[in-house]
Amino acid sequence: MAILEIVKHPSPILTQSCKEVVAFDKELATLLDDMHDTMVAADGIGLAAPQVGKPIRVAIVDMGEGNDVIEMVNPVVTAVGGSEVEVEGCLSFPGLYGEVERPFFVRIEAQERDGSLYQLEAEDYEARAIMHEIDHLNGVLFDSKILRVVDPSEFEEEPDDLEEDEQN
Ligand code: CO
Repeated sequence: MAILEIVKHPSPILTQSCKEVVAFDKELATLLDDMHDTMVAADGIGLAAPQVGKPIRVAIVDMGEGNDVIEMVNPVVTAVGGSEVEVEGCLSFPGLYGEVERPFFVRIEAQERDGSLYQLEAEDYEARAIMHEIDHLNGVLFDSKILRVVDPSEFEEEPDDLEEDEQN
């Protein structure tokens, strides 16, 4: 278990397409554990492997408060539905928040850390976080999708609406 350094924008590692994972070994398990420690320490709700310097198709989402950690290895989006504009942030862009349009619903197929396949459906902010992380694996960063930059002072009055921990 270790807290890793988070790669910040601009870094070329963040804009490259990540490689498929083929080895479901102890190294992968350790990376997933370390990514979770790192995400929690940074008050995030999601993290992708390129953000810790590993350009491979691995990402996690953890909405906290009784939700299970979603570990995504080689995730593929198999369905989307609806759309919603919400404010989001990213641990690789400290201090940047913006409104981004994303599907309201998403279905993915991915592998667990042991290589077994699973399907997952998510809605609302969980779907948003999953899409944000899968974007990372394709080298796509949220700043390119921002419709309107939001100053943190705009949501200070409504801490339930967006706290600083809603960063991916
Ligand atoms: Co991010």
